Formats: sequence, C-alpha cells, structure tokens
Amino acid sequence: MAAELRCVADALLPGSVGDIAPVEVAGVAYLGFETAAPLTGDPLRAVSVLSGIQALYLRAGDEHGELLRPVALDRPDRFPSDLVTILKYQGKTNEQFTRLLLTVTAMATAWPERYLDGTMTVLDPMCGRGTTLSTAITLGLDVTGIDLDAKDREAYQAFLSTYLRQHRIKHRLTSGAVRRSGKTLGHRFDVELAADKDDYKAGRVQHVTYLGVDTTRLQGLLPAGQTNVVVADTPYGVQHGSHGDRLARSPLDLLDAALPGWVRALRTGGAVGLAVNRHVAARAAVTDLLARHGLTVVEAGGYGGLRHRVDASIDRDIVVARKG
Ligand SMILES: C[S@@+](CC[C@H](N)C(=O)[O-])C[C@H]1O[C@@H](n2cnc3c(N)ncnc32)[C@H](O)[C@@H]1O
Repeated sequence: MAAELRCVADALLPGSVGDIAPVEVAGVAYLGFETAAPLTGDPLRAVSVLSGIQALYLRAGDEHGELLRPVALDRPDRFPSDLVTILKYQGKTNEQFTRLLLTVTAMATAWPERYLDGTMTVLDPMCGRGTTLSTAITLGLDVTGIDLDAKDREAYQAFLSTYLRQHRIKHRLTSGAVRRSGKTLGHRFDVELAADKDDYKAGRVQHVTYLGVDTTRLQGLLPAGQTNVVVADTPYGVQHGSHGDRLARSPLDLLDAALPGWVRALRTGGAVGLAVNRHVAARAAVTDLLARHGLTVVEAGGYGGLRHRVDASIDRDIVVARKG
C-alpha cells in the first residue's frame, strides 16, 4: 500500500507527499505519510481511492499526548463494495489487489485525474468472472472484458444482471454474437447502466462490454487507440483446478501473442498493467517483452515496489508500461 500511495501521490499530488512509512500508534499498525497541508478536496479524493484504506486520521497532539483526528474519506465509488465481493470462485483475483492494479496502472497514464472523474476507459483482456469489470463499474468507468472461457462469461453475465436488478440500478443488457467478416467468433454481452436514474434517462451511462473470444485474436474487434488502460491478471502457471491455466501456453508466449492486439487498442499516453507470477515469468522477461512491443516500462517511484508473496507457488509482481 505504501508503494500504491507513492504511485498515486506522484501522479496526482506531485511534490506534496513526503515520507510514506509504516507507523505504530498504541500498538496498532498504520501507514503514515507526511503532507504539506491537511488533505481536502482533490488530494483527499486521491488518497481515498487507495485499495486498502480503512480510515484516515490526521496526527495531532496536545498537552495530553498524541491524538488521531478522524478525517472523512471522499471515496469515488458509486456502488456498494458487494458488487465486487459477492461473486466467489476458485481462481478469483483478490478484490483489493485488483483495485490496486487498476489504480497504479491508471496513475501511469497521461491522464491520471480521469481515474477519479469517471472518464477513463478500461480493458481487461483476460477478465475471467469480471473482478476488474466490477471494480471499474464501481468507479464509474467504461470497461471492456475479454475471456475465452464460456463458463466465466456466462457466470459474470448472470451475476451482473441479477445484481443490477436486485439493487434496482437502471440498466439495459443485450447479448449476441461476436462477428468478424460475417463469421461468428463467440458470444458477447453489453450493458448500459447508471448509478443515478436521472443520469440514465439523460443518457449519461456507463458501458460494459464482455467479448467471449481469444485474446490473441482481437484483430478488428476493438477500436484502435481508444482505451486508456489495459490491466490483466495473467495466468499463474499453477493449477487452481479450474479454468485459465489449461487454456494458456506459457504465460510469456501467451503475452507475446496477445500484446499486439492490446497495444493497438490502447490510446497513446495510456498504460498496460500486468500482474505476473515471478515463479513462471521473471520480471526482466516481462519488461523485455513489453519493451519489444513498443512500450516503456515504468520503474520509478512506487512502480518497483509492488512485489509481494501470495503463497508458496505465487510470488506476485505488477509490471506497468506506457504507450508513447
Ligand atoms: C488469472 S485468470 C483472471 C481472473 C480474473 N481477474 C478474475 O478475477 O476472475 C486468467 C484468465 O485468462 C483467461 N485466458 C487464458 N488464455 C486466454 C486466451 N487465449 N484468450 C482469452 N482469455 C484467456 C483464462 O480463461 C482466465 O480466466
């Protein structure tokens, strides 16, 4: 989270956040950071987006000792967190991690502020049962997901449609075939929705698209140079017992085959963020690959500090690279 905050601070609050380090107050661990002035307005909103934030306190003191003064968060979220948490399945990418991946990738683009005002567009080209899609929806963003696994697509479509109905969120869901040159390649569904009824009536809607196709064969399926961010939790090369890893070749070969389509879809100034298991894809191999596909890997600030252990078989890292 310290690395995530560094990425957010460098992009949205340049020069105004000093040391970021764990602190302990009365035996409880916090993440401490220094700011030139107490956080309000846009800077408060920027800090409120952090994936692991529970509460924010201003450290103050008086003659009786140290005080923690609560500061109300200003979360950009438009939907309750259960949109991201309800669906549970083997192989799901952790929700908090998904938000972190999306946030740090958005911060590496030329338009980090668009992450908070709801105008950024997101593509998860290996979206499974939609953890990234739901996270982006929560933040008010337009999002496209791609996955070859029909069970994943069906499960996410069923979940999303039930969720929107039960929460009385205005929406329209359509489904049909993905076609190219008259040939059917797979199934798709599209949703238009708005958190607010008046927004829906006025056409101020969010767009969600799910394409059930092979992510290495996207030619002609996505508009070129449109999406601001591409994020993917790549197959880990370990058996979760279900989907994903059976479909994939080595994760690096899969990325090599898929990256041309992903980079084509990305707008210049946009960024790609990949979660990788270092046991099956060394960081240097991933950064070399991204560079070979014309991207510039971002290593400065928080971007070199996102590696963490998940379990004995997954040593997870995030590699972020920019187009242009
Ligand atoms: C680690 S999982 C992503 C899980 C997802 N973030 C979630 O929370 O549900 C990787 C995904 O890549 C998909 N995949 C692997 N090879 C693919 C291909 N060639 N085309 C499309 N999807 C593919 C798998 O079906 C799997 O759902």
